[in-house]
Amino acid sequence: MKNEKEETLAGWKIIWWLFKLFGFPITIPWLMYHFYDIMLQKRKKTALGNKVVMITGASSGLGEALAHTFYSLGCKIVLISRRKEELERVKNDLLNTHQTVPTYPPIVLSLDLTDINNLKNEVSKIIMIYDRIDILINNAGISYRGEVIDTNVDVDIKVMLSNYFSQVALSKIILPYMIEQKSGHIIGISSVQGRIAIPFRSAYAASKHALQAWYDTARAELCDKNIKFTVVNPGYIKTSLSLNALTGNGQVYGIMDKTTESGFQPKYVAECILKSVLKQEKEVTIASFSPKCAIILRTLFPSLYFWIMQKRARKLARDK
Ligand SMILES: NC(=O)c1ccc[n+]([C@@H]2O[C@H](COP(=O)([O-])OP(=O)(O)OC[C@H]3O[C@@H](n4cnc5c(N)ncnc54)[C@H](OP(=O)(O)O)[C@@H]3O)[C@@H](O)[C@H]2O)c1
Repeated sequence: MKNEKEETLAGWKIIWWLFKLFGFPITIPWLMYHFYDIMLQKRKKTALGNKVVMITGASSGLGEALAHTFYSLGCKIVLISRRKEELERVKNDLLNTHQTVPTYPPIVLSLDLTDINNLKNEVSKIIMIYDRIDILINNAGISYRGEVIDTNVDVDIKVMLSNYFSQVALSKIILPYMIEQKSGHIIGISSVQGRIAIPFRSAYAASKHALQAWYDTARAELCDKNIKFTVVNPGYIKTSLSLNALTGNGQVYGIMDKTTESGFQPKYVAECILKSVLKQEKEVTIASFSPKCAIILRTLFPSLYFWIMQKRARKLARDK
């Protein structure tokens, strides 16, 4: 009869044998790939230093977090939005927070992106300073809360102008410079709602769906020009987006929604975006499990998705 010690030893021998059989062939290549990936990301991060990065909607929320992420790598940052004093605040924060980073002071460009005829003139100011734009992050946007039936069409147009046409117009102005310099990367901040539409967000979801289509087309057409396009679909982020959202009659919604309040930290989302830029990903969805499931459901079982959305619309209408 084997004693207890011998049995334990036999048990460990089996585990060791199993580890040699399955563990080594999986763990060793995985570890090697992991270390290789870390080194690669590090090298790519270093290569980002000195790149000219234009960030729209940089006065708050995700845009502000992106400014910190890219500035900390030594990028030359251009901060764009309407509120000049907020951009100056972000600029001072960048200078004070990353004092050891060797780069140029960020440039503040206060402009309304929906003033499309003015964009060319404003972009040329940056070109005069830096002679190039390497990365454009189309992040500025507004949200919307309302019912299809009583939303003034002016609101639909305003949301579309802010979230879609201004991004397209700015990209079209910058693309010729990128083509000339034979490189460039445009990042479009869309939303999970660029992939699925939910009740009471018609104008917002439509504008983000339109973005997705534009980027997919541009990526394909410009694939031989070394221009990269990344579409980012975040779930809820803890920012002022719902506070600044427009309602059906064009007024400001002014409420911090619970979903937004409990969303991802902007810094986390900015870090994920940086990773996808380094990996030159074509599309990235930064969201929790259920929005990701909803996207799959909408693609594979649309009837089921529509049924769930009908139930949701009825419930939300009742709870109002
Ligand atoms: N928060 C979320 O849950 C969430 C989820 C998915 C996607 N997103 C997307 O993330 C992006 C950033 O939004 P956020 O969450 O950070 O909200 P936010 O804090 O309200 O930021 C929006 C930014 O856009 C700028 N902006 C709006 N209209 C503009 C215009 N006409 N011209 C120039 N700048 C304009 C605002 O600056 P000024 O007011 O100074 O102009 C602000 O800096 C948006 O595209 C949004 O759709 C957000």
